[in-house]
Amino acid sequence: MIEGLKTLDNIDAAGKTILVRVDLNVPMQGGKVTDNTRIVRLRPTLDFLLKKKCKIVLLSHFDRPKGKFVPSMSLAPLVDELADIFSGTEIKFGVDCVGSAAKDAVSRLGIGEILLLENLRFHAQEEQGDINFARELASLGDLFVNEAFSCSHRAHASVVGINQFLPSYAGRLMQEELEVLSGIFSSAKKPIAAIIGGSKVSTKLELLENLSKTMDKILIGGAMANVFIKALGHSVGKSLCEDGMKDAALSILENAQKNNCKIILPVDLMVARKFAAHAPNKVAKIEAIPAEWTAVDIGPDSVRLFVDELKECKTIVWNGPVGAFETSPFDVSTYSIARSVAGFTESGDARSIAGGGDTVSALMHSGVIESFSYFSTAGGAFLEWLEGKTLPGVAALVKG
Ligand code: 3PG
Ligand code: MG
Repeated sequence: MIEGLKTLDNIDAAGKTILVRVDLNVPMQGGKVTDNTRIVRLRPTLDFLLKKKCKIVLLSHFDRPKGKFVPSMSLAPLVDELADIFSGTEIKFGVDCVGSAAKDAVSRLGIGEILLLENLRFHAQEEQGDINFARELASLGDLFVNEAFSCSHRAHASVVGINQFLPSYAGRLMQEELEVLSGIFSSAKKPIAAIIGGSKVSTKLELLENLSKTMDKILIGGAMANVFIKALGHSVGKSLCEDGMKDAALSILENAQKNNCKIILPVDLMVARKFAAHAPNKVAKIEAIPAEWTAVDIGPDSVRLFVDELKECKTIVWNGPVGAFETSPFDVSTYSIARSVAGFTESGDARSIAGGGDTVSALMHSGVIESFSYFSTAGGAFLEWLEGKTLPGVAALVKG
């Protein structure tokens, strides 16, 4: 439990109007939601409030409209998806999140109904963390529930401001994310390993530094591994490899060693003639990456090495795919490791926790995500949590 955090166990919600900050920033294509995980995971909180005969007002952002009304970034299409998931509940829409349109919509809201207000980020004050904007939002309800852990790394008005005006509570998903993710650093069974992938090492330096203090091993894949391979004196051919990162990479290796954290790098890579689906490809040892080829995935010996290292672990944390999984067949190693981790979890040998937009999307495609112990709904917030940062949204909620 997080000290100082008020949860739905402490709320006297019956009959009240509850403002719920949610994250409906979900992937969409052609006006349809393509992954509704973030909405489905709201069920425990919203069902709880519906049972208490509350009026529910949902606040969310969508995409990055930069303070302007952008029709393609309206939350209106989300009403249908909410209606599917909360069937039998009346879902209404308010064309603005503040002003008379919002007030009128709230005044027409009945007990046991859900009102979704339009994109918070259509107002620049949201991202500015404007306190008057937060006050206006707060005036729409009696109590505030923050159910958007995945937005906690943003010091925006709806994330850090509303709680200054209303009694505030963590929703069930917020609570679950906090409990699971704090457990990584406080109560995880050892040995504990992190699989870290992705393309840019520069975005993961703090992550690697912080994790090397807690993890027994870190397995590095994805294009970010190329930086380490090059820093160790190998050529990476035409592979994506960030410039100017050699010293940072060597310092990570050195600090990890001081912390008794074993860093495991790929020993072979799958390389392709060009970066395109089904481009001619082959496996190359890291000592012999051909000059004109580009790395697209880790190789089969690396997968065997990674799986062997993971086999003895009791806790496995995963952030970042190990190959360019969106382009077939460069998804092979990510899926293969996913299946192994799922297997270790199912047999009770390990607890597995995954997070990050790309990671979760890759694991979903792999078809084994349900076998993981936990997957976070957060991208950036998950990363910053693992970096050891204080998330403004969590700090605000704990302070009350
Ligand atoms: C996310 O999708 O990670 C959150 O909704 C935050 O979105 P942002 O990166 O646009 O702030
Ligand atoms: Mg996600």
